[in-house]
Amino acid sequence: MADAKKIENAKNEFGYRSFKLGGFTFRRDEYFAHFEWPGGSHVMPVDKFLKALMRDVAWNFFYGIVNFDEVFGTLNHYGTVEVYAGLYNAGYRKQNKQYVETFKSDDTIEVFAAMLDDWTIEGFDPFAAPEETGTPFGPKRGNNSRAVKRARVVAKRMVGLQGDSGLRSDHNGYPVNRQFTDVEQDEPEVHAEPGFENEVHAFNFFGYLSRSDVTWNPSVTAVVKDSLLCPTTEEFVLPIIHGNDRVEWFIQLSDEIHWDVQDRETGAPRARVLMKAGDVAAMPADIRHQGFSPKRSMLLVWENADPALPDLYAKKKLKPNPVDF
Ligand code: PHB
Ligand code: FE
Repeated sequence: MADAKKIENAKNEFGYRSFKLGGFTFRRDEYFAHFEWPGGSHVMPVDKFLKALMRDVAWNFFYGIVNFDEVFGTLNHYGTVEVYAGLYNAGYRKQNKQYVETFKSDDTIEVFAAMLDDWTIEGFDPFAAPEETGTPFGPKRGNNSRAVKRARVVAKRMVGLQGDSGLRSDHNGYPVNRQFTDVEQDEPEVHAEPGFENEVHAFNFFGYLSRSDVTWNPSVTAVVKDSLLCPTTEEFVLPIIHGNDRVEWFIQLSDEIHWDVQDRETGAPRARVLMKAGDVAAMPADIRHQGFSPKRSMLLVWENADPALPDLYAKKKLKPNPVDF
């Protein structure tokens, strides 16, 4: 495994630090993130890069593959992580130009989190919808550590239970979002038998989601063994192209999302899916996908966190699609 040496160079002329992770170097200027590795280089608009980096860090590399774009990304091995350029790009692969290094996940998160914090300037929130945040461009100007260090909601059992992740309200800093003012805010009445107050529970799921201050950030809201209910509010573009290592079920709770579905390995187009409120989809285990939400919408992502799954799919012991129609 490569040593994740994190030499952090002095500030450049724009006030930003450069970062090193094994053979990769990263630097930013006013508009772009620049990458170099032995044998290649790449450039990404810095807004796009920071939004993808935010998710990769907050989700601890997520499930499977996080493509920041068609060239750069990470592949999660849950403890270690492959950081790559061109690995899932048919053109790079054809010319054998891909570059991959494996690092300890913790070392990589450390470098990525430091880069995210240094490169995110005052007024820009990588989790926010474009209409709800300032610009990431220009020379270094302050920071937004509060936003980039937000903890992701990960309930132990269910949001709102005693000792678990809390419900959202005006009082704790979660007002109803501008696009969800029509969502009812009443709460269900729960009458538990004495002794079962912390076992029987319900809350207004739509009300909870209407108060989310972030986009494209599934939070773990209810857990039963490996079954994770991860709702999220979406607006504009999913900032990563996710390559699945298991099946993901989507339930569109409101409005609509357009999905581009491609072959996970090559990016060859496979499907366009328009999900409208009430639609359910099973995203296969051998695809990559990116969503486009024309207005803020509510999506329920149902994840199966069983750690045995990636290997079962990789060895073709499970079919990539869970249902045949
Ligand atoms: C996904 O890749 O499945 C995904 C990621 C983030 C979201 C929704 C879906 O907000
Ligand atoms: Fe996905």
